[in-house]
Amino acid sequence: MKIIKVKDYNELSDLTSKIIIKEIAKKSNLVISLPTGKSPLGTYKNLIKEYKKGKVDFSRIKTFNLDEYYPVKKNDIKSYRYYMFNNLFNKINIKKENIHLLDGTTKSPIKECKYYEEKIRKNPIDLQILGIGVNGHIGFNEPGSEKNSKTRLVNLAPETVKRNKYLGKALTMGIYTILKSKKIILLASGKEKAVAVKDLILGDVDKNLPASFLRESKNITLIIDKQAASLL
Ligand code: GLP
Repeated sequence: MKIIKVKDYNELSDLTSKIIIKEIAKKSNLVISLPTGKSPLGTYKNLIKEYKKGKVDFSRIKTFNLDEYYPVKKNDIKSYRYYMFNNLFNKINIKKENIHLLDGTTKSPIKECKYYEEKIRKNPIDLQILGIGVNGHIGFNEPGSEKNSKTRLVNLAPETVKRNKYLGKALTMGIYTILKSKKIILLASGKEKAVAVKDLILGDVDKNLPASFLRESKNITLIIDKQAASLL
């Protein structure tokens, strides 16, 4: 596990966007898996800025999103679909057909998750960007998630319901699906992530802290700022 400590959220966003741009320069049809939430927002802003300067071309990349609420309408401002289009996709030259999102409107979550897994199998993820929940979740793999879990419908942990102010369930890539990615980068910023980061780095690999399964991946880099690293 590689750990990169940075000063603050701005440095974390600068570094992460630089890594993404470098990976796209190496492989123009990079398959990248993207998270939502606060952690990647600065990174997405930088990517848009660099795109406008002509420094990066997204026309051949493919994306998969990590998770989505369920059920949620396509245009609901709470949906991760809305977040992605609003904060990134509408502002860069990615092709619509190369964007893959879990469908929060599906009538058959089982079919939808199977279909998503199938698409990922055909387009293996080169670069997986992750955030981490204060309870150690990755995507919506909440405490108790199994290492061999695949994309599926899950119940949200009570603290996630409270923090995210969402009462329903969620669709999420599984731990197994995430671990299959060739490279994984996890972002953690701020004091509220310090306990989860400490447990991830120093604790046991344990399903009660789903992010700890990442320790079993050879290609995991943590980018953490001073506050998130404050308990190490
Ligand atoms: C959310 C999402 C995750 C996200 C995490 C951290 O609930 N399901 O995909 O990475 O929690 O969010 P944030 O970056 O806002 O702290």
